[in-house]
Amino acid sequence: MKQHKIRLYPLGKEITVNDKTPLIDLLHEYGIEFPCGGKGTCGKCRVSLLEGEIEISEKHRQTLDRLHLSSDSRLACMSHCTDSITLQVEQFDHLILADETEFEFEPESGFGIAVDLGTTTLVAQLVDLQTARILAVETLLNPQLKFGADLISRVQAGLDGHSTEMTELIREAIGQMISLMLAQYQVVPDKVVIVGNTVMQRIFSGMDLVPLSCYPFEVEDLGMKTFTSEELDWDFQVSKSIHFYPSIGSFVGSDILAGIAATDLHKKEKFTALIDIGTNGEIAMGNRDQIICASTAAGPAFEGSSLSVGMRAVTGAISSLRLDGAKIISTVIGNTEPKGICGSALIDAVAILRKLDLIGPFGEIGTGEDSLRIDGAVWLTQRDIYEFLLAKSAIAAGIEILSKNLGIDTFEIEDFYIAGGFGNYVTVEHLLATGMVESTEEKIHKMGNTALIGAKMFLFENGDLASEILGKTRHINLEGHPEFQDIYIGKMMLE
Ligand code: FES
Repeated sequence: MKQHKIRLYPLGKEITVNDKTPLIDLLHEYGIEFPCGGKGTCGKCRVSLLEGEIEISEKHRQTLDRLHLSSDSRLACMSHCTDSITLQVEQFDHLILADETEFEFEPESGFGIAVDLGTTTLVAQLVDLQTARILAVETLLNPQLKFGADLISRVQAGLDGHSTEMTELIREAIGQMISLMLAQYQVVPDKVVIVGNTVMQRIFSGMDLVPLSCYPFEVEDLGMKTFTSEELDWDFQVSKSIHFYPSIGSFVGSDILAGIAATDLHKKEKFTALIDIGTNGEIAMGNRDQIICASTAAGPAFEGSSLSVGMRAVTGAISSLRLDGAKIISTVIGNTEPKGICGSALIDAVAILRKLDLIGPFGEIGTGEDSLRIDGAVWLTQRDIYEFLLAKSAIAAGIEILSKNLGIDTFEIEDFYIAGGFGNYVTVEHLLATGMVESTEEKIHKMGNTALIGAKMFLFENGDLASEILGKTRHINLEGHPEFQDIYIGKMMLE
């Protein structure tokens, strides 16, 4: 078969591929993302063609025109390799949140592997079970990203016949990460604990995604899934167990279960909330007597995929903004020219624009223009601001409805734990100023990757901790609450 060479600039990689290979199959491994799942609508998979030819269909041409992309731009999701080419791709170097938090544990002999299987990123750590010391860490982008950035795209890809491929991709990726760690420390791991959201659990386990695609979105069989190395096609042995921990509800998975364990929320006397804003937004709230959890559709804006200049926390993303007098000062990841804005800085931007009175209480731009410049070529459009308001209202309404379910006022919540990469970068003052969380600064705590911390804690137990938490935790559907619409709309305002 005819073959071609693809050179990736500035990564310095050269790959040989068969004729007509779709670029989407190659480039996701090099950090190119496909937020709309290759539907040709988002334009975020664009690359620049520096040398060679890529045949371009009429539909591809129309899409480039519609997105106002330059003549050397190509959408990787619509391109096949029919010539030797050089492509300029973005230098993505994802900041994936690993963790070294200390926690209480009962020492035991052997080694364990904790895996946080996120919709976007994967983190695995090899742990010495005698000391809880982290021996090795591996991070990777979730290879399912080529099917879209959010959970709905993954469910849809499953319905479109890609379930088996997604299952194989994720099992292989986690297997590779573990193999790399075992190559450094030649040990036989005793246990592997994997945590992730419900969609990730079902894809990893090869389970049906249909119940997650239609009303009432109720899935059964949320429990612990157990595997052998052979079943997962892993070429290393695990002497005792490989567990994917139980989900709590349809869209609240074991990453939140692990987060509850990591924050001791299930032991607190006072009411406490855990908020994890990633590709999806989940909230757990309660105390040692009861915990309620829910998911919100908050992710796309904070992960950048629904914004005109949105991007995740990678090189070139504005990660934070602050005011110096009336001047907006930005911090850009990698100290380069800003190319876009990530979720944490989006909150900063809206809070600052409101403070400067450039936008009104409903997010309306007061200058009469359709966009406002943030830094360099990065502008925030009116639509971006509305997307933010939708996402922040979803979180704020979720907090209020969970409080109501517990019979308390939001101000009675003693502590808010903000989890995940987003939580790490967010400016608490701005989180409060936008009304996403209605509390006071001293009650907000950034907790890091609580899913990974909890997964490590689960390495030292045999399911009892998870059962204890599950025994007092229930999942509710926010949209099912009679006041949801009113509360949600009420939260759209910027105070
Ligand atoms: S346009 Fe290619 S992934 Fe969205």
